[in-house]
Amino acid sequence: MSGIRSTGNLHLGNYFGAVKNFVKMQHENKCFFFVADYHALTTHPKPENLHDNIRQVLSEYLAAGLDPEIATLYIQSDVPEIIELYLLLNMNAYVGELERTTTFKEKVRKQPENVNAGLLTYPVLMCSDIIIHQADKVPVGKDQEQNLEMARKFAKRFNHMFEVEYFTLPEPYNFGEELIKVPGLDGTGKMGKSEGNGIYLSDEPAVIRKKVMRAVTDAGPQKPNSRMSEPISNLFYLMELVSKPDAVKHFRDSYNDCTIRYGDLKKQLAEDIIHFTTPIRERIHDIYHDSDYLRKVVKMGADKARDSASKTVREVREILGYKPF
Ligand code: TRP
Repeated sequence: MSGIRSTGNLHLGNYFGAVKNFVKMQHENKCFFFVADYHALTTHPKPENLHDNIRQVLSEYLAAGLDPEIATLYIQSDVPEIIELYLLLNMNAYVGELERTTTFKEKVRKQPENVNAGLLTYPVLMCSDIIIHQADKVPVGKDQEQNLEMARKFAKRFNHMFEVEYFTLPEPYNFGEELIKVPGLDGTGKMGKSEGNGIYLSDEPAVIRKKVMRAVTDAGPQKPNSRMSEPISNLFYLMELVSKPDAVKHFRDSYNDCTIRYGDLKKQLAEDIIHFTTPIRERIHDIYHDSDYLRKVVKMGADKARDSASKTVREVREILGYKPF
């Protein structure tokens, strides 16, 4: 099993939608998690930002509960074997199919000034990330389904071309339950980084209060037991995640009898989010500043990941005909 994401801070949507499940899953499966810092180069980050970002992402996943002793948690760029496999896989990936990838076309639209070859072969690198550990299940969101489909295709093609049953074909994994889609605060759609509607695990209480108080609402219920508009049902959804059942019930009842004041609901929601995120935020801060601990985690992860990756690369080289004299 393999997973994870590139750089960028975790918001509540990431937490409830994925990370919470990763934390559970690491006890039931052999899991590999990594910070996708090679993928990050496709958008040309500044070197100093890249390092801080990696440190932040790592601290956040650790603070959220990934256990580096149980799972394998590593930084992609610590495992050069991934790049060797990526190069080998590139020979069997076709420019035409890569150009048709939705995520590639989106990037071309978003950064027309930087359509680099790494963007084009992004799905090949992602495939390498996955099959280098012979991962069978990969937890990905909707937007990554096509990339995962390509990973499967490349793995299958390799097996077919060299007449081996070598690579495990990776399947998408949705945690065996209905996926949670945490809504944003802008009244429509889900919480996302690019939407700018998120509450981050590392947000300070004052920031959380400000964001929640600004959340979109409506004119209020016009008659008892009326249907909720999307912005309001989104606020209730968030409340279900972080508030006590009594509090949720109180506001549902007051919505239904039209006595609700959205200001009160928001105040309660903000405090409950703060209550939920504060221990995590404090752990993120402590871990981020504990270089000794981070060094230890990263070393342990790199060792475990390279063990698994170098075995695959050795075997692939043999299959391709690179043999010792
Ligand atoms: N493309 C993924 C994303 O944007 C990140 C990613 C890179 C990934 N390599 C992966 C996810 C391997 C799962 C497996 O979210």
